[in-house]
Amino acid sequence: MHTPKADYPLSEIRRFLEPGPIVLVGSAWKGRRNVMAMGWHMMLGFSPALFACYIWEGNHSYEMLRRSRECTINLPTVSMMDQVAGIGNCSGRSLDKFETFGLSTSAGGHVDAPLIDDCPANFECRLVDERQIPEYGLFIWEVVKAHVRPDPELPTTMHYLGRGEFMTSGAIVSRRDEFRPGNL
Ligand SMILES: Cc1cc2nc3c(=O)[nH]c(=O)nc-3n(C[C@H](O)[C@H](O)[C@H](O)COP(=O)(O)O)c2cc1C
Repeated sequence: MHTPKADYPLSEIRRFLEPGPIVLVGSAWKGRRNVMAMGWHMMLGFSPALFACYIWEGNHSYEMLRRSRECTINLPTVSMMDQVAGIGNCSGRSLDKFETFGLSTSAGGHVDAPLIDDCPANFECRLVDERQIPEYGLFIWEVVKAHVRPDPELPTTMHYLGRGEFMTSGAIVSRRDEFRPGNL
């Protein structure tokens, strides 16, 4: 049984997102829900906690996200690699990925999009800037709530290299003493 998730400070979510892990984007629109895999994303600010990502317009998620103006960003661990590869290689247009890949979900407090239970971190997001979507497919979100399992402090994540290959997160190496306080 997993340790329950707890609220996590939004100013600290970079711990999970800055290293560029593959995430699962949950969406909900007009009674339907979906999930896709995503690697092209970045943090954009601490407070408000802003997060940007590229979504291809051919994905079923694209219109759901654009119309609902909300999503969940869910952080899978390496143990979910088969599910992640499957989720990212089929479309929710023709099947229910939650059923197909055995994903249990919980409701968030701020958005209708589902939180994926097996992911140790879930972020509820609202669309704050849609101006770059038509030209670049760039969605800019504000993370409004973070739910994180406190143990282990940093889960082992997966990072996509292209060619169907993933790299998994490894050793943590500190150079803290050499950092200016403003860069920590
Ligand atoms: C590892 C991985 C990373 C991906 N990264 C992105 C991404 O950053 N942006 C994107 O639009 N699609 C990305 N995809 C592709 C979508 O996840 C894929 O097209 C998915 O099937 C879309 O599902 P949907 O049609 O249900 O929305 C990625 C797929 C994989 C496997």
